[in-house]
Amino acid sequence: MKNKIVAGNWKMNNTFSEAEDLLVAIAESLEDMRLETEVIICPPALYLEMATDVAQESNFYVGAQNVSYAEKGAYTGEISAAMLNSVDVDFCIVGHSERRTYFHETDEELVKKIDLLLANEINPIFCCGESLADRQNDNFKLVIEKQIKNTLFHLSAEQFENVTIAYEPIWAIGTGLTATPQQAQEVHAFIRKLIEEKYGTEIAYNTYILYGGSCNAKNALDLFTCEDVDGGLIGGASLSAKDFIEIINAAETCTKND
Ligand code: PGA
Repeated sequence: MKNKIVAGNWKMNNTFSEAEDLLVAIAESLEDMRLETEVIICPPALYLEMATDVAQESNFYVGAQNVSYAEKGAYTGEISAAMLNSVDVDFCIVGHSERRTYFHETDEELVKKIDLLLANEINPIFCCGESLADRQNDNFKLVIEKQIKNTLFHLSAEQFENVTIAYEPIWAIGTGLTATPQQAQEVHAFIRKLIEEKYGTEIAYNTYILYGGSCNAKNALDLFTCEDVDGGLIGGASLSAKDFIEIINAAETCTKND
């Protein structure tokens, strides 16, 4: 039986007091749950320390949404992996399509980010996924294979074991268009096979491959039931404590029925 991961990506949402209210509401709900599921909350950087404080008394992990590709120094506005580690951040999202698109992040930068995170004992949540055009042209597997090989396959097996992958088709992010369970399963199985070819069966099985893209309280159970879907990276629906907890409950149901 493999448990699931449910991660919430708040993106650029919530003021300080809203963030505090949401963290406390989630922590209070989790208190009564005997969780198999690993819960990760990724708030904006400004609230990471508050989140790690709340997390100390609760049963969730804290993730950042981004990290600098540079180690330290004159990079105004940036936050380093060592800084994230110093406030007890456990995970960091890397390669989200919004960052690739709006901030022009390249595979070379993502490699640097991943290496720095691992050197600072933070687990990367690596996002990959195709555009609508790539999906329509039936090019999506090639795109995903390239993203994964270019950014992750320089890692040793020991390093790779700390990486979580999130498959997030760009056409499904924030659009309300969710991949069908069949579409998600096909890509997740494909990603697992790539990992198996490179790192072997055991590591491939143990790697968490999350689905992201309009995953919500209504569709989470169907998605999480797929053999190779190990949980979700949740955007919009993670901004409501009620919805987020329902998604965690869907993950719990899958683990218990497994
Ligand atoms: P969404 O975002 O759930 O709002 O589609 C997911 C993500 O971008 O991580």
